[in-house]
Amino acid sequence: DDADGRTRFEELIAADDRVEPSDWMPEAYRKTLVRQISQHAHSEVIGMQPEANWIGRAPSLKRKAILMAKVQDEAGHGLYLYSAAQTLGTDRDTMFEQLIAGSAKYSSIFNYLTPTWADMGSIGWLVDGAAICNQVPLCRASYGPYGRAMVRICKEESFHQRQGFEILLSLMAGTPEQRAMAQESVNRWYWPALMMFGPPDDESPNSQQSMAWNIKRLSNDGLRQRFIDMLVPQAEVLGVTLPDPDLRWNEERGHYDHGPLDWDEFHEVLAGRGQANAQRLERRRQAHEDGAWVREAARAYAERMAARREE
Ligand code: 3HC
Repeated sequence: DDADGRTRFEELIAADDRVEPSDWMPEAYRKTLVRQISQHAHSEVIGMQPEANWIGRAPSLKRKAILMAKVQDEAGHGLYLYSAAQTLGTDRDTMFEQLIAGSAKYSSIFNYLTPTWADMGSIGWLVDGAAICNQVPLCRASYGPYGRAMVRICKEESFHQRQGFEILLSLMAGTPEQRAMAQESVNRWYWPALMMFGPPDDESPNSQQSMAWNIKRLSNDGLRQRFIDMLVPQAEVLGVTLPDPDLRWNEERGHYDHGPLDWDEFHEVLAGRGQANAQRLERRRQAHEDGAWVREAARAYAERMAARREE
């Protein structure tokens, strides 16, 4: 019963063990996991759109093939994560409705437009780089299905980050116009990528409980700082300038000091007033509608197979 269940749950968390779908868990633990995992899944699927924008216009067959593979990976990450969320008792249709109704969020970063090819480099290097920073600790999340999904996703994300870095490296070794295009893209994506880690710790309502339950292992600001510290030497190799005049090594802290983020922009994007929020949701809704016949066919086939097994 609940008393035994609660004791066992608390023992699992105290021992930093895994909680599995069949274990008793507090309703609030279940709820915050459905919230985070479904939003993570929504982010992966919406995240296909900014990059798909360049599949038909990639500068070479090689770049086109790599970009297609990456976008397909994101779709797969979304499916793993929707499946992990379903183990908590929420079905796919409900999660989809929450996304379209706006009651479920997806990562702010995907509401930015991708006007140049260099954005494919910045997304790989900065956005997937930030995602890896955020996802590696999530491999140790206390909820088993979530942590295990992260292990596979992190392996594929590192390829995504490398191919983005390589796109920028090629551009920076190119003509002055290509170098300018790469720098202009980094200028646009740097600050929004830092916002992927969430609001400052003192404005993060979920962090305390999420850390107490071993879901979130490092704080929003802690991971953001780790990411910045990683980025600076990589930017030097690329020869790009990170657009923060306050960025400088602080020997005492052992980290880079950095300038303030524009949290008004963050809240505007979360409120649905980013560059591309409406078109991202409209495209997602349209894709779901266009795919209805596939779901109906799969369901009819599954029912026919089940009926045949009963004959
Ligand atoms: N975009 C949209 N919403 C955000 C956000 C962002 N960048 N950062 C925070 N939020 C939301 C939170 O979801 C929360 O709202 P909610 O209570 O309605 O869910 C609110 O802002 C306050 O933030 P908190 O810090 O209190 O929330 P969390 O403790 O959940 O921390 C998080 C936010 C760090 C994003 C955490 O949810 C998380 O780690 N999520 C899983 C990772 C994830 O979603 N990453 C998205 C990256 S994109 C991606 O992975 C695709 C890759 O292929 C590029």
